[in-house]
Amino acid sequence: MKKITIAIDGFSSCGKSTMAKDLAREIGYIYVDTGAMYRSVTLYALRHHLFNADGTVREQELRRQMEHIRISFCMNSETGRPDTYLNGENVESAIRTMEVSSHVSPVAALAFVREALVGQQQRMGAEKGIVMDGRDIGTVVFPHAELKVFVTASAEVRARRRYDELKAKGMEADFNEILRNVQERDYIDSHRATSPLRKADDAVELDNSHLTIAQQKQWLLAQYRRAA
Ligand code: C5P
Repeated sequence: MKKITIAIDGFSSCGKSTMAKDLAREIGYIYVDTGAMYRSVTLYALRHHLFNADGTVREQELRRQMEHIRISFCMNSETGRPDTYLNGENVESAIRTMEVSSHVSPVAALAFVREALVGQQQRMGAEKGIVMDGRDIGTVVFPHAELKVFVTASAEVRARRRYDELKAKGMEADFNEILRNVQERDYIDSHRATSPLRKADDAVELDNSHLTIAQQKQWLLAQYRRAA
């Protein structure tokens, strides 16, 4: 089978990462979670006080500091999945907090942040054999990807999944706060000027509101076999 590029886009917390990770492991491809990259820049900005009191980003400061932000991934042999590193520190848990979730969309809307991360993403996928998930993979990062998937699910189903995920990790979680955050991120992500979230014309759509993880996996594997 020839090596291809697989782009998986969709709304927040719709299970894209789980599907993408499982597929990558099954077919021996590299997996890249681009949301983790935007979250890492956000974590850096929070730690370096680059937000104003009203939640807006101190853009000039962040722009100046972008060159100090190094994001990488390294396979975790225990989970069999890649962990995210920010300047050499494993931040896989630190980037999943509500604080990061509630600050990430304004950071991801900045053109200079997107330019830097998209460039890195394109370099990571230059050799193909990659599954990448995010919001603009099929439209901007890899517009010529052989397989593009656009995943949707209702906001309530997605908030419930995020809630269960945080609880399972022993983290604090409030369902209504998560639902508001999911809806707010959907809005900002699909209305921003730079690379808004939208389905690529040639993407296959999957509404996974009522599918189990095993069913989604089977569906995705069938799409891959068709495309490769
Ligand atoms: O996928 P995840 O929910 O972790 O992404 C976090 C945030 O990063 C999204 O809400 C979105 O604002 C941003 N993002 C993006 N483009 C991507 C991936 C994520 O703008 N390719």
